[in-house]
Amino acid sequence: SSDVDAFLGCLYADIPPRLVHTPSTNNYSALLLSSVRNLRYVLPGTVRPLVIVAVTEPGHVQTTVLCGRRHSVRIRTRSGGHDYEGLSYASLDPHQRFAVLDLAELRAIHIDAARAEAWVGSGASLGELYYAVAAANRTLAFPAGSCPTVCFGGHLSGGGFGSLARKYGLSADNVLDAVVVDAQGRLLNRSTMGEDFFWAIRGGGGESFGVVVSWKVRLVRVPETVTVFGIRRFRNQSAIDLVTKWQDIAPFLPRDLYLRVLVQNPQADFVALFLGRCGRLFDIMRRRFPELGMTQADCQEISWVQSTIFIEFFTTDKPLEVLLDRSNKPDYYLKVKSDHVQEPIPRHAWESLWEKWLDEPGTPPIMLDPYGGRMGSISPSATPFPHRDYLYQLQIYSFWFENGTDALEKRISWVRGVHKELEPYVSKNPRAVYVNYRDLDLGTNELEGNVTSYDNAKVWGEKYFKGNFERLAGVKSRVDPDDFFRNEQSIPPLRAAK
Ligand code: FDA
Repeated sequence: SSDVDAFLGCLYADIPPRLVHTPSTNNYSALLLSSVRNLRYVLPGTVRPLVIVAVTEPGHVQTTVLCGRRHSVRIRTRSGGHDYEGLSYASLDPHQRFAVLDLAELRAIHIDAARAEAWVGSGASLGELYYAVAAANRTLAFPAGSCPTVCFGGHLSGGGFGSLARKYGLSADNVLDAVVVDAQGRLLNRSTMGEDFFWAIRGGGGESFGVVVSWKVRLVRVPETVTVFGIRRFRNQSAIDLVTKWQDIAPFLPRDLYLRVLVQNPQADFVALFLGRCGRLFDIMRRRFPELGMTQADCQEISWVQSTIFIEFFTTDKPLEVLLDRSNKPDYYLKVKSDHVQEPIPRHAWESLWEKWLDEPGTPPIMLDPYGGRMGSISPSATPFPHRDYLYQLQIYSFWFENGTDALEKRISWVRGVHKELEPYVSKNPRAVYVNYRDLDLGTNELEGNVTSYDNAKVWGEKYFKGNFERLAGVKSRVDPDDFFRNEQSIPPLRAAK
């Protein structure tokens, strides 16, 4: 259409044409797929971007925002493409005309080891940062997620939970400054955007407020040598007893110890990272969780950066360079539901869950990640992420390789079924969900006039943000009153409230 031509013309005035990809250019499909992590959102019929702009400098972001506003083309920002519901590159609304701003090339990392700080581009992956931090200094680290291909842009703007959270909180708790392009195309930093805007992008989901170009973060201290273990217990041994018991123990362990569980038929895998040596870890485990039967032979003493590989791949045999591998060829379909747990789930509920849902071979993992420690001592309003006071988070994480609607329906209904089974035992009123584990089952936006409805959005919004939702909407009213940055679950402006 003429609007699209005008939009392209506007882009070409400032952005080299080789960075602007349309469905008629050669690299469009390869670029679109380059960081897709969920094949559900590239199925035929999915609404694809009119244009992908593979920016190489912040000025290109500013131009794309200004041209988009002028010519009525919306923008979805993609850093690492890991959004569980594909919101960074696909639209559920068949009428939405949008461009994707792909930030993969904005991934410079500058480490200041002496000050224990770093500037990191939104397109940098967690693995790239872990590698660079460790190369600069073996006793520095950054608290963030376990999957090395997840990128900064989405991860930090949604929170960022990982194996150092009990000691140092979320990634978002360790952000010192950020550079963003706002809805008027201005390039702002912490002092020019103001504290409310800066608060919102540390856990409120960046996509509603602007485009975060880079982040200044605080690096944290870790010992030169840390210890990891992975202990597998089968159902016919003691797995159910141990999982039940784990709930009373893991959230209350010393902050230096992170002990997660992956429950997947026929076993439960207990995976630990301890910021210290094997001897002390063994003492703690013997005193606090003797039932697990950990021995010193279970320990592997390694560097912190190696522990990031262990937690992701369950081995220490891979070279560090595996962290730099960004090649994320999409090969599976994904559906995840998550929740938070406040009271231990009783043994009989685990037993019946296992019997009804987990007994089939090949069922996906249920991942239990402990909170407590630093997580519990941060105020729920310090950042938009409010879920500080839980025992643990729980993810039902289904991925599958078979094509076709039968597989799709079967897998998705399995995930929903497991969640339903657990419903009596997990958070309620409102349910507590982490926005980085995006779940469109919670609800999607509707328009009122030409702005997203606040009342409607509250339904899903309070599940992600509790009391912080209203404040986020207030920030949105101020920084993007026209609701230019919108998607299926973007924060609406508050002024639309009735
Ligand atoms: P993507 O580019 O898809 O962005 C996600 C959302 O953020 C989109 O709405 C997008 O528009 C927006 N966005 C992206 N960049 C932006 C920017 N620069 N400015 C403004 N908005 C921006 N989480 C966790 O806490 N701990 C973990 O261990 C894991 N592990 C994990 C493994 C795997 C395999 C997946 C698929 C996901 C996770 N996650 C996770 C969830 C992950 O943190 C979440 O999906 C992040 O939002 C992904 O960020 P990306 O930039 O990669 O995604």
